[in-house]
Amino acid sequence: MSGDAELTAAERAALDALRTEDGSFDATGRVVDPVEVDDERVVEAALRPRRLEEFAGQPKVRDQLSLVLEAARRRGSPPDHVLLSGPPGLGKTTLAMMVASELDRPIRVTSGPAIQHAGDLAALLSSLVEGEVLFLDEIHRMSRSAEEMLYLAMEDFRVDVVVGKGPGATAIPLELPPFTVVGATTRAGLLPAPLRDRFGFTGHLDFYEVADLMTILRRSARLLGVEADDTGIAEIASRSRGTPRIANRLLRRVRDWAQVHGSGLVDEEAAHAALALFDVDAAGLDRLDRAVLEALCRRFGGGPVGLSTLAVAVGEESDTVETVAEPFLVREGFVIRTPRGRAAAPKAWRHLGLSVPRSAMTQDALPLDDDDAPTGRFTS
Ligand SMILES: Nc1ncnc2c1ncn2[C@@H]1O[C@H](COP(=O)(O)OP(=O)(O)OP(=O)(O)O)[C@@H](O)[C@H]1O
Ligand SMILES: [Mg+2]
Repeated sequence: MSGDAELTAAERAALDALRTEDGSFDATGRVVDPVEVDDERVVEAALRPRRLEEFAGQPKVRDQLSLVLEAARRRGSPPDHVLLSGPPGLGKTTLAMMVASELDRPIRVTSGPAIQHAGDLAALLSSLVEGEVLFLDEIHRMSRSAEEMLYLAMEDFRVDVVVGKGPGATAIPLELPPFTVVGATTRAGLLPAPLRDRFGFTGHLDFYEVADLMTILRRSARLLGVEADDTGIAEIASRSRGTPRIANRLLRRVRDWAQVHGSGLVDEEAAHAALALFDVDAAGLDRLDRAVLEALCRRFGGGPVGLSTLAVAVGEESDTVETVAEPFLVREGFVIRTPRGRAAAPKAWRHLGLSVPRSAMTQDALPLDDDDAPTGRFTS
């Protein structure tokens, strides 16, 4: 693991505490490039808060989840299944881990793409112990057959194990001990309704306020042994796209700059210089965000343009543009989703230093994700 050499003793200790019995870590890395993923994953795990009270921001989801867990604890039975949705880096995995640690229960971590056959899921489910938390990351990427098996397991705590093949095959029902599924997804809209309905609690994570990001950054700076003043913290927080993962990453880059070019202190000057070096602009937009705006305004005259056309123009997968770049651009009012595709809002033109054409004033906006669950929705 290339990243280990860069770790401080504190990071390494925090990391060792997270290692599971087989020596692996929880699956939270984004595939960007293999070297960075390791570094990223290691530090990320070290910075992950363990208890709900350490979880800054998202007051609604936090309070609701805290109630669900407390009630379960008092009843002495596992809580309802929990679904967490929202853009990358906002704390879904973190909250999933907390469900287990708050209940003092073991957790099993896997992800949708790892479960391609119903048999994989059957094996996993039948090995769960009572009250165990099963974390299914990227749950929208599970295979259809596994999904169907999961409905039954979540509702009746039972799986049908098929023995034999062809006409002679028989399904043997297998009782499961009660357990809790925590599902995480960046695309709640892609989950089939029957699966979504089996979650008793759905928490939708939204982008963070600057004040909450500052709280998170102060804590991270302390854990990483980085000296930072309020001007530096505020500057990083306001340019982190409302995302704790990005805030923590920028903190480390600003620290690097401060150690090499400055006094070692993360302050406003270090933040400005490092963020400029890493192509993060004053609004917190990164290279992909700006490429999307450039393509929309310069190449497509402000749109509307279809998602896949836009993705090709910036050389990215549609999925990346839709889940990574777009939510923040829409939320900040740079991009508008219209019935005919994505369009540039006046703010986008101004951000690129272009004059705003009249057509940009008259777009009818659609909500970001029509069928996305609103914050903290309860289902029965
Ligand atoms: N509320 C929070 N307080 C403190 N740290 C946070 C909070 N939310 C997220 N983080 C930090 O941000 C990082 C990313 O969070 P996490 O891995 O939970 O995001 P995610 O929603 O699971 O992202 P992805 O969709 O990419 O899997 C973690 O290292 C975690 O420490
Ligand atoms: Mg995650």
